[in-house]
Amino acid sequence: MPISINPSEEREQQINLHHVQMNKWNAKEQWHPMGHPNDSLKNPPLIITKGKGVHIEDIDGNSYVDGVGGLWNINCGYGRAEIKEAIIKQMDELVYYSTFRGTSHPRSIELSHKLLEMTKVENMRRVFYSSGGSDAMETAMKLARQYWKILGQKDRYKFISLKDGYHGTHFGSSSVTGNARFRRAYEPALQGCYHIDSPWMYRNPFTEDDPILLGQKCAEQLERMIVHLGADTVAAFIAEPVLGAGGVIVPPENFYPLCREICDKHGVLFIADEVICGFGRTGEMFGSRGTGVKPDIMTLAKGITSGYIPLGATLFNDRIDDAFANNNDSIGSIAHGYTYSGHPLACAAALASLDIVEKEDLPGNASIQGDYMMSRLKTFEDKFASVGNVRGKGLMVAIEMVSDKKTKKKVGKPYVASIYKKTLERGAIVRTSGNNLIISPPLVIQKEDVDVIVNALERAFEEVIL
Ligand SMILES: Cc1ncc(COP(=O)(O)O)c(C=O)c1O
Repeated sequence: MPISINPSEEREQQINLHHVQMNKWNAKEQWHPMGHPNDSLKNPPLIITKGKGVHIEDIDGNSYVDGVGGLWNINCGYGRAEIKEAIIKQMDELVYYSTFRGTSHPRSIELSHKLLEMTKVENMRRVFYSSGGSDAMETAMKLARQYWKILGQKDRYKFISLKDGYHGTHFGSSSVTGNARFRRAYEPALQGCYHIDSPWMYRNPFTEDDPILLGQKCAEQLERMIVHLGADTVAAFIAEPVLGAGGVIVPPENFYPLCREICDKHGVLFIADEVICGFGRTGEMFGSRGTGVKPDIMTLAKGITSGYIPLGATLFNDRIDDAFANNNDSIGSIAHGYTYSGHPLACAAALASLDIVEKEDLPGNASIQGDYMMSRLKTFEDKFASVGNVRGKGLMVAIEMVSDKKTKKKVGKPYVASIYKKTLERGAIVRTSGNNLIISPPLVIQKEDVDVIVNALERAFEEVIL
């Protein structure tokens, strides 16, 4: 005889079955970036179904403050009517047209104009679109090489970047990424990519307490590497203004200005990877502006559309624009591009999103809320045995966890997983990366939700014993 159940129980059972099914399909049919396929079965991912403001909800109806900001990209928060309406309007008007030679469309033109206005300080003069950060980096690297070929210096094809830098996953961008973990399974990598030490105070072999000395030592490494390779073989130096995925490393204030001087001395291009830092996350509109450096090339993605539709952009300054403009042979023709370079829906989303970034002064809010979050999190260094270092700028922050503060031995995976889980139970989601917790909420976050994240973390550190 069938067991009789009331309608609400029946509904609950259906929902549970649906969730089990979703997890099973996910584990069996989907491969996730940056994870082993077998992990999905052991540790089913959170299935996120809704987002509003800085809050997200999972398939079981649990809600969290999104301390990850999607993936460092939902700068304007979830569910912004202005962005949605701009996308819908564009859908009605023109869903797609190519920007390959011979055609263009109004939104890509307007967005280019807007981006160049926003980067007047950096003398940016040209925009090239793609669909994300890795694409934008690939564009930067290829066109940097082309720039030197145009100038008749075809041997300048090498790139120098930082050991803890992250620049994406294409062959070019993963080759300039510092962490070999992102390359090992796919090697051989692109030829001609070299890495120097990151100016990282917490883990550096040079100095215990003098960031300026560290900045100087690491900049000297750049110069030594350029000279070692032969300056006339180096195309560009590539760096994030604040290193994100590598563990939110904030270089000492003298580092980038010194690197710019060294690049100028040897004619090397300076590529600033602004994929995370761009559009306010560090508390400045652009991360490199905060360092006082004017790059030759800037790569943008993530926050450009606030994550609503994929878009990447690579900006080139007057020096590079002039070289292309003064060339009239085939080597100066851009043999690079993507079907979705300047997709109209993405450009419409970007225009609406950047409008919000400016009108609501999101860089200013990132600075205020970031300072507040930092002032609270910094106390963890004294309070908790496992918190070795809290660092960051604006709304990009890392908590580095160690099992011994003297030796700085990194905590193991189970400890990191427990802290993550406890934080989640207290209503906030943060990102784990090795022995770091990374916090990068939407830039619209206000004090009460910063408190939710910090309180959740605090309880987690109190409850999980090292
Ligand atoms: C600094 C930086 N550059 C490039 C990328 C690659 O961007 P995407 O994942 O959109 O290809 C990322 C991604 O996190 C990034 O953080």
